[in-house]
Amino acid sequence: MQRQLNAWLFWICLLAGLIPAWAEAQQKNSSETIPPARSTYMGRRIAQAMSYHGADWLVRPTRESEERPSEVLKQLRLKPGMVVCDLGCGNGYYTLAMAKQVAPDGKILAVDIQPEMLHLLSLRAESEGVKNIEPVLGTIVDPKLPKESVDMVLLVDVYHEFSHPQQMLAAIRHSLKPTGQIALLEFREEDRTVPIKPEHKMTKKQILREYSANGFRLAQQYDGLPWQHLMYFEKDPNWISQQVSDKPEN
Ligand SMILES: C[S@@+](CC[C@H](N)C(=O)[O-])C[C@H]1O[C@@H](n2cnc3c(N)ncnc32)[C@H](O)[C@@H]1O
Repeated sequence: MQRQLNAWLFWICLLAGLIPAWAEAQQKNSSETIPPARSTYMGRRIAQAMSYHGADWLVRPTRESEERPSEVLKQLRLKPGMVVCDLGCGNGYYTLAMAKQVAPDGKILAVDIQPEMLHLLSLRAESEGVKNIEPVLGTIVDPKLPKESVDMVLLVDVYHEFSHPQQMLAAIRHSLKPTGQIALLEFREEDRTVPIKPEHKMTKKQILREYSANGFRLAQQYDGLPWQHLMYFEKDPNWISQQVSDKPEN
């Protein structure tokens, strides 16, 4: 009965474009208490999570010429044996490519909040014979990653969708090895020619504001991509953790 109710709730939320509302409702059925979703964070409007119905867009043939992911993969400098998390992996555009780079001993933890995205990813992994991917169904506050065990967390076009950025950044911080880093890709808000809706873009200034407030410092950046910022963050050892505020700004 509860499963049926959940399924109905999912479809109602989906039709209304409310993936985070569905995920939040799911959470309420579990023992976790989830603070209300934010609509803004540090002055930025938070975007709606992209539905799995749009997953084809993520694997469109023009993605290479528009975003140059092959250059991103070169810049990430992954090595065999690494443990990498593709957080907000969608249907696995980056997951599959990275899995091949860290093989045979390394693995990709592929996290998403939509089980349908993980299913699409598993079909693609199967058809390409890629085996070193661990799908993880995360929640809107917790990517369910093991403690201090990840070399890199890749966030491609997803951070701006986090309804609970503070909780997510705290969980990522917890999961990274002491030398681990976040590789963050966000569409450049500073550039009006990037043809993406404003709430799906971020400025470097805003990114730095939010990441430094949550215990990260800029380690490196690469400005050679056509549409996106690529910024690497490491844990700031001098950061003093403050209590995460559950109070939405809206
Ligand atoms: C725009 S898609 C990008 C997918 C993939 N990174 C790519 O570039 O092909 C964003 C994905 O992030 C997921 N997402 C949103 N919030 C999330 C969260 N808190 N934890 C994990 N995944 C999340 C969405 O479900 C969606 O699949």
